[in-house]
Amino acid sequence: MRQETFISYKGYRWLLFTIGALIVCAVVYIVNSPVGGRNGGTVVGYSFGTLATMGIIWLMAYGIRKRSYRSSLGTVEGWLAAHIWIGIGLLFLVPLHSGFSFGCNVHTLAYLLMILTIVSGIWGVLYYATLSDKISSHRGGRKEAIVLEQISSLSAEIDQIAKGKSDVFMRLVEEFNFSFKPRFFQLLRRSRLTSLDQKRAGEFLVNLPEAEKDDAMRAIGLMDQKIDIAQALVEDSRIKNLLRVWLFIHVPASIALCVALAIHIFSVFFFW
Ligand code: HEM
Ligand code: HEM
Repeated sequence: MRQETFISYKGYRWLLFTIGALIVCAVVYIVNSPVGGRNGGTVVGYSFGTLATMGIIWLMAYGIRKRSYRSSLGTVEGWLAAHIWIGIGLLFLVPLHSGFSFGCNVHTLAYLLMILTIVSGIWGVLYYATLSDKISSHRGGRKEAIVLEQISSLSAEIDQIAKGKSDVFMRLVEEFNFSFKPRFFQLLRRSRLTSLDQKRAGEFLVNLPEAEKDDAMRAIGLMDQKIDIAQALVEDSRIKNLLRVWLFIHVPASIALCVALAIHIFSVFFFW
């Protein structure tokens, strides 16, 4: 059975709702034939404009609902499903409002900003659908805090083994061990931590006193393990950052849309 996602939430309930509402609006648009032609200034035009504005205000409220952890006003998943489908529906409602008339003005600017918001939203959803499975912590893997703890306990173990050992041993640890600072994560670029150079490790082993060889092998194993764990964490962080970056377009675009919309509504009443 296919797993339900926020897109298919409750059998595509919000997609069906949006299609139904758009069909009703399209029928009203076709049936209504005002004197002077269909445009934003007719009764139907005003009604669709008001409906679209209410839709935008509600879409903006998603940011608040998302952070109201104690709210019992529907689930966040349900809100997001509605957000996506109603958001896309506005793309079609606004042309019905304006009578498919666009120009070089603030009214059309509001519509263009709405398109930018919607396109960035679709981009975010596609990103989410393709990338979120790749985050190992989402697949039941280890969580960041636990991984960081593991890395620091591996470091402590390596330091413990190296204590009181020969210079060659110290140089081996110095060369292969690394301090892992998550603050310096490559934010968006794919980055690989250099894996342990086996040939170089072999050279160190040959030069070590016999009594230290077993400990050296153990330290090399731990450092190798540390690199693998840190690498997985870097990759997880990269994907999580990519999942957030589109919001830097979506949210400012939605705010700019609200500003342009306020000017649009003000101007149509002011110049009435
Ligand atoms: C309460 C809400 C709204 C009201 C009262 C309203 C009012 C109007 C009026 C009176 C017109 C006709 C202007 C003219 O012909 O000069 C118009 C046109 C238009 N409106 Fe709205 N509107 C509203 C919401 C929206 C929304 C939400 C958008 C898009 C985000 C939008 C985009 C447009 C566009 C693109 C036009 C056509 C401009 C043109 O013909 O060049 N409106 N609106
Ligand atoms: C005019 C239309 C839209 C407006 C005004 C709008 C506005 C917003 C706002 C204010 C947020 C909250 C951001 C935050 O506080 O973190 C948000 C989040 C989001 N929006 Fe939109 N949005 C619109 C359309 C869409 C569309 C069409 C889609 C997808 C097809 C979409 C997908 C998303 C997603 C995935 C999130 C983040 C979900 C999360 O992090 O929980 N949005 N949007």
